[in-house]
Amino acid sequence: MYTLCMEYVIHHMEVVDSTNSVLKELAQSGEPEGYVLVADRQTAGRGRLGRSFYSPAGSGLYFSILLRPKKSVTPAALTCLSAVAVAETILSYGKPCSIKWVNDIYCHQKKACGILTEGAFLPDGTLSYAIVGIGINLSLPDTVPEELQSVLTAVFEEPTDPAFRDEFLSRLMDRFSAHYDRLPEIDFWETYNRLQNCRGRKISFLQDGIRKTGTAESIDRCFRLLVRTEEGLVALERGEVVFI
Ligand code: BTN
Repeated sequence: MYTLCMEYVIHHMEVVDSTNSVLKELAQSGEPEGYVLVADRQTAGRGRLGRSFYSPAGSGLYFSILLRPKKSVTPAALTCLSAVAVAETILSYGKPCSIKWVNDIYCHQKKACGILTEGAFLPDGTLSYAIVGIGINLSLPDTVPEELQSVLTAVFEEPTDPAFRDEFLSRLMDRFSAHYDRLPEIDFWETYNRLQNCRGRKISFLQDGIRKTGTAESIDRCFRLLVRTEEGLVALERGEVVFI
């Protein structure tokens, strides 16, 4: 008995509004899994919580992967699997990085990558499809808007060219498929916990519309962030934490 590994086919476009939005339309018209769309720039790159994602030409890697998971898996697990694949790729170039729960990769204490997983569910609660969108500032142009300069960084200090970005993507897809093909095993959970940068930090977070504070502990096997608060241990399923 053997498992067939999924094949990924990479498609390039120069400019799109959002690679996630384009793939969503393809998914809804029945495109099989494995379609990867890379854009040189996005005019309406999207982030979590309704935010936009800065996606200038010639410096970042912006792409989305269409998945139709056969095993029971949550969007949170796909986000964390992708975060580990991105972090492992960055580390393979000798660059340090960490993961800020749940979907951000940090280099030098600033965000270098964000991940947006979107999906549609079947009536039985399993995923009909999922789209994992990944945006990485491999380098940054000189024209980063002032309001982003204090929060964004790039993986590499020097400019990157298209051939290098393709090579980076191919390494990343190797890491992604190694983890994806092993689902529902989540061996990557240990790496996620080792690389996450919240442990032991004082954080604030929103719960039922109320801002609370606590000390972050580990990530559990459902990829929830465990936070020690004065009311006890809280398991955060989603949202965003702020370091304080
Ligand atoms: C975040 O930081 O909240 C997530 C950012 C995700 C950005 C990527 S870039 C490729 C894909 N297309 C999008 O519109 N968003 C994701």
